[in-house]
Amino acid sequence: MKKEINGKTKIIGVIGKNLENSLSPLIHNQIILKHSLNFCYLPFQVAETNLGKAIQGIKALNIRGVNITFPYKEKVIEFLDDLEESARRIGAVNTIVNNKGILIGYNTDVIGFKKSLQEDGKFAIKGEKAVILGAGGAARGVIYALLEEGIEEIYIFNRTPEKAEKIKHDFSSFFPKSSIYVFSLEEENLKNKIERVHLIVNTTSLGMPPQIDKTPLPDEKLFHPDLLVYDLIYHPTKTLFLRQAKRAGAKIINGLPMLVYQGIESFYLWTGFKPEGKEALEMIKQNA
Ligand code: ATR
Repeated sequence: MKKEINGKTKIIGVIGKNLENSLSPLIHNQIILKHSLNFCYLPFQVAETNLGKAIQGIKALNIRGVNITFPYKEKVIEFLDDLEESARRIGAVNTIVNNKGILIGYNTDVIGFKKSLQEDGKFAIKGEKAVILGAGGAARGVIYALLEEGIEEIYIFNRTPEKAEKIKHDFSSFFPKSSIYVFSLEEENLKNKIERVHLIVNTTSLGMPPQIDKTPLPDEKLFHPDLLVYDLIYHPTKTLFLRQAKRAGAKIINGLPMLVYQGIESFYLWTGFKPEGKEALEMIKQNA
């Protein structure tokens, strides 16, 4: 927040189910402080039954905008007035902008994921193959980002394969040069698909409190040293999934760079001010 909150302070924030460990308030308020902006970023913990009322409250309270996080990225869409074109295609929203009482949904996860993969993971997506674990709102942003950058094949593994089938159905026509294959999480072909790829991304909530001792890939023998293993979770800093991948010699990356990069894109949409990504990431690493 700015040093002093006053009558002109604009409110921004995050809506999610479990925000105790969220670093978004720290990220945004550090940026606000550093650049003396008259904004304040707040956590709004909302139960699913209140999601619609909370979204209406953005208008009623003249809140400038919010991030949307787990598990509401898809569910929130029905309460919005409009969607930016890519958010419509993706079918998931992580940012809402309140434009004079009109609520517009955006997805800045896509750019955040791309930037983290390229800059922090040093991974060139074009022509690659990837295994994606999960098929929720976060997975939609990740998969869309990979397709936009020309990935050749995507293997989606999800507990509920129908949700992954829906992603395949929704995205395939936009990216006819890439192929999407769907499997259930228990399938034996997890092994043979992981052997063929250089990138695995965990988009499930397994590993996040309260499921902290869980991993979407219980057999750690499946990891190999030619992998970049990416977990969207940033708390804990190293999930069991990442610890096992590291032990197997794989390169690992957690969700913090993506969180910071998607956050600064959202911040720009609300404030018109774009902080520098690397600088913001370093600031958070020192203060988190
Ligand atoms: P987000 O917006 O963060 O993506 P979400 O849409 O609720 O959140 O998606 C959560 C993902 O974690 C889904 O892929 C979910 O699997 P289902 O589609 O089968 O629900 C996955 N997930 C959550 N808990 C899980 C568990 N105990 N075992 C396996 N997958 C799980």
